[in-house]
Amino acid sequence: MTRTPVNVTVTGAAGQIGYALLFRIASGHLLGPDVPVNLRLLEIPQGLKAAEGTAMELDDCAFPLLRGIEITDDPNVGFAGANVALLVGARPRTKGMERGDLLAANGGIFKPQGKAINDHAADDIKVLVVGNPANTNALIAQAAAPDVPAERFTAMTRLDHNRAISQLAAKTGAAVSDIKKLTIWGNHSATQYPDIFHAEIAGKNAAEVVDDEVWLADTFIPTVAKRGAAIIEARGASSAASAANAAIDHVHTWVNGTADGDWTSMGIPSDGSYGVPEGIISSFPVTTKDGKYEIVQGLDINEFSRARIDASVKELTEERDAVRELGLI
Ligand code: NAD
Ligand code: LMR
Repeated sequence: MTRTPVNVTVTGAAGQIGYALLFRIASGHLLGPDVPVNLRLLEIPQGLKAAEGTAMELDDCAFPLLRGIEITDDPNVGFAGANVALLVGARPRTKGMERGDLLAANGGIFKPQGKAINDHAADDIKVLVVGNPANTNALIAQAAAPDVPAERFTAMTRLDHNRAISQLAAKTGAAVSDIKKLTIWGNHSATQYPDIFHAEIAGKNAAEVVDDEVWLADTFIPTVAKRGAAIIEARGASSAASAANAAIDHVHTWVNGTADGDWTSMGIPSDGSYGVPEGIISSFPVTTKDGKYEIVQGLDINEFSRARIDASVKELTEERDAVRELGLI
């Protein structure tokens, strides 16, 4: 049966994450090995030439699933008919820039992109924001798209989720595939909280297997939360292949579902669960099925976890208040 191609828009397509991402989308890793795709590459004018170069390379791969590539610097064109949008391009923090300046600069990107998604994307649009500060950029885009259901706007904490699984596997000697039900709570920032109290290692409670609260507090949590900075320090550039891989994982899981007995972490608009104020885009444990996600309910949150979730959520509410004051939401 011939399937209709899915339109996938990638912003920041000429950047380093874009370069690691586009070839995997075109080869079927985002949506599945039988789903053809049309790619829309959205860049700023200075990025168009490099995006054209990447498109030439995509052509040269002769990917059977790749049905078309369009390159543009106009969000109204880039998001026209989009079924999936990966918002990767963002304004990085530069020397001397205050947090308010960073939020304002990103508002100038994510607000018009949200409006273009509102006006031109397909009815089933799913949005993943990767560009930092991802959670609040997602909130800005979502606020600018009142006709799109709010839950379609998500922010990436899957890289943090994957990092946490990898650290836990290294500590315990377990296989990555034996680790389930790990959770990232809060913001994609150094305040995030990777929670192993509900995680399982080969069916056993991970916190009990580790049995080392000092390692948890002083090594595991800061290693995961500051991994992005450690990569920048080591590589001289922020994570790219692992970030692209996490973006692929996020959308693939959203579309194709979580495995029985497992869940994933996604930054999503809070419905008030676990005391997280409604509306902010915070990371939660979620299961997915048939292209929809649901927050895992009923988890016992101990004092150790509560304090850390609250700290990250406080940062998110401050970011929300800051963008509200700037008139961005
Ligand atoms: P990069 O600087 O290599 O590329 C960014 C690209 O975005 C550039 O080509 C730039 O021209 C383009 N761009 C800028 N403004 C744009 C706009 N308005 N429309 C379209 N394109 C635009 O950066 P990168 O390494 O690819 O990282 C991209 C973003 O992802 C950064 O904000 C980074 O901090 C973030 N990031 C997030 C995570 C996460 O886990 N959420 C992980 C790694 C990186
Ligand atoms: C990461 O987690 O690797 C990135 O968000 C770091 C960054 O600041 O780009």
